[in-house]
Amino acid sequence: MENKKLIFSGIQPTGTFTLGNYIGAIRNWGPLQDEYNCIYCVVDMHAITVKQGPVKLRQSTMNSYALLMACGIDPEKSILFIQSHVKTHAELSWVLGCNTQFGELSRMTQFKDKSQRHPDDINSGLFTYPVLMAADILAYNADLVPVGVDQKQHLELARNIAQRFNQRYGDFFTLPEPYIPKVGAKVMSLQDPTKKMSKSDDNPNAVILILDDKDTIIRKFKRAVTDSEAEICYREGKDGINNLMTIYSSVTGKDFAAIESEFAGKGYGDFKLAVGEAVADHLEPVRTEFARISQDKAFLKKCYTEGAEKALRYSQRIVSKVYRKVGFVDKT
Ligand code: TRP
Repeated sequence: MENKKLIFSGIQPTGTFTLGNYIGAIRNWGPLQDEYNCIYCVVDMHAITVKQGPVKLRQSTMNSYALLMACGIDPEKSILFIQSHVKTHAELSWVLGCNTQFGELSRMTQFKDKSQRHPDDINSGLFTYPVLMAADILAYNADLVPVGVDQKQHLELARNIAQRFNQRYGDFFTLPEPYIPKVGAKVMSLQDPTKKMSKSDDNPNAVILILDDKDTIIRKFKRAVTDSEAEICYREGKDGINNLMTIYSSVTGKDFAAIESEFAGKGYGDFKLAVGEAVADHLEPVRTEFARISQDKAFLKKCYTEGAEKALRYSQRIVSKVYRKVGFVDKT
């Protein structure tokens, strides 16, 4: 690979992404491919820390992979692969786990939240989830990791684990830094604009999925919660309108002043329709590309097989050195 900084990111195999995931993260991944060496991974091993049906997991993993391609990640430019295909992640995870304290993992807020939500299944994978995530990143000695706020604590832990390893065994791991995208807005729920848009929302009208068809998108925007005024402007307290303006701005490139004058004197109904249409038009190429890629199973398989080979080749060198450093006997 060329001598550029290395970006690593993992994404859960939910099978579809929300407009929030798309605008806040995934859409920015494509353009990074020219500036950085990029490695992207669908984290199916992380997914089984909460109960999954096998048929559904397999399907969602494939769909997530195809969707990343449809969103502009080019497997020729980046390494794009499925986590369980590359054994070094689990191998390194064990070694890193032996350099991670029980106390540190107990403090992870995601672990605490998830154990509260699934009290009948507080499995040890859920507890060591951040160790596997550290292994994902450190197996490539990544420089930068694009993460949202909810993953910051895990990235911080990955740095601490790396640092501890370096102190014990001699400088080896790069300490990964968070990558904050230059552009990227936070998208809120359409039904409660004080909350982040989330796929797990009980109300389907709160969430735009990037594979929703045009009618569905427009219908959801028409039902979006706003306020009792009638003025389209970005102002504190107007959470619903602010959110719609943010979304409209990020899909059209217009700034808030331009949007305010475009809709001066117009009603919320007109504005919601315009936002819905703009979003649907913006996502149309993603939907078309997804349909094309996902019906070509042979092509998809070729991409993820080659991705896994490249990822293994890259990470194997690093994990072999780790094995040697900790004192495992050389196999060859
Ligand atoms: N934990 C991340 C999430 O839920 C996904 C993930 C797994 C990840 N491994 C990673 C993100 C490595 C960045 C780097 O969003």
